[in-house]
Amino acid sequence: MVQTARRTSPPTYVDANRLWVDSRLRYQVGLRLEGPALARLGARGERCLEIGTGRRGLGARVAVTRFGARDVLAVDVHAASVGRARLATADLGDRVRFQVADATALPVPDASVDLVLSFHAFHHIADWRAAVAESARVLRPGGQLALTEMTARFVDARWLRAVSRHPDDRFDTGELVAELARCGLQVGERQLRTRLGGRVVQAVAHRTAPGT
Ligand SMILES: C[S@@+](CC[C@H](N)C(=O)[O-])C[C@H]1O[C@@H](n2cnc3c(N)ncnc32)[C@H](O)[C@@H]1O
Repeated sequence: MVQTARRTSPPTYVDANRLWVDSRLRYQVGLRLEGPALARLGARGERCLEIGTGRRGLGARVAVTRFGARDVLAVDVHAASVGRARLATADLGDRVRFQVADATALPVPDASVDLVLSFHAFHHIADWRAAVAESARVLRPGGQLALTEMTARFVDARWLRAVSRHPDDRFDTGELVAELARCGLQVGERQLRTRLGGRVVQAVAHRTAPGT
């Protein structure tokens, strides 16, 4: 297992996270920039599970409109967000379902999903390594985990820590890719992009068959 030295972080003074996360601008960035970027990295799948959908059901919509998803289960740990996301995606009909669930205990069987998708949820999950392992568990061999994430360089920036709460143990791109590989999720060179000087990483990892 790859061990990470715990970073010391400055305290958080104000929780202004929701100002950005729930904004229409953030939603448009996800829909128009991050979703298409993951599509260019090869994100595809009919049976999809989204982790950390937030209040607008962003990933569920991207999955249906960009990745060819026909059946999306979108989960979030906050019940209020799930309720809001359900309303926000009503136009997608029965292609999208929502459930309150924790990324470290996903409510689906082993090897039952083609695509696990997440926009900026893993850096909010205290045990992000458990969420990676859980994503690998639910993916069928050949299935994909598609992520867009802030790295430690972004999350641990003093100005961001001052206005937004995140758990202490964050990952850089190398740590994320190493943990994916440890769980049987391989990222090819062409399935990985970093942005903003390594502050944002986008990746599409493939679930290897057991024993390969
Ligand atoms: C930064 S928001 C991203 C929301 C949306 N995906 C977006 O990109 O706009 C992170 C989301 O992850 C959810 N989340 C945090 N920890 C979680 C966990 N352990 N399991 C599932 N969802 C979680 C939060 O409730 C929140 O909705």
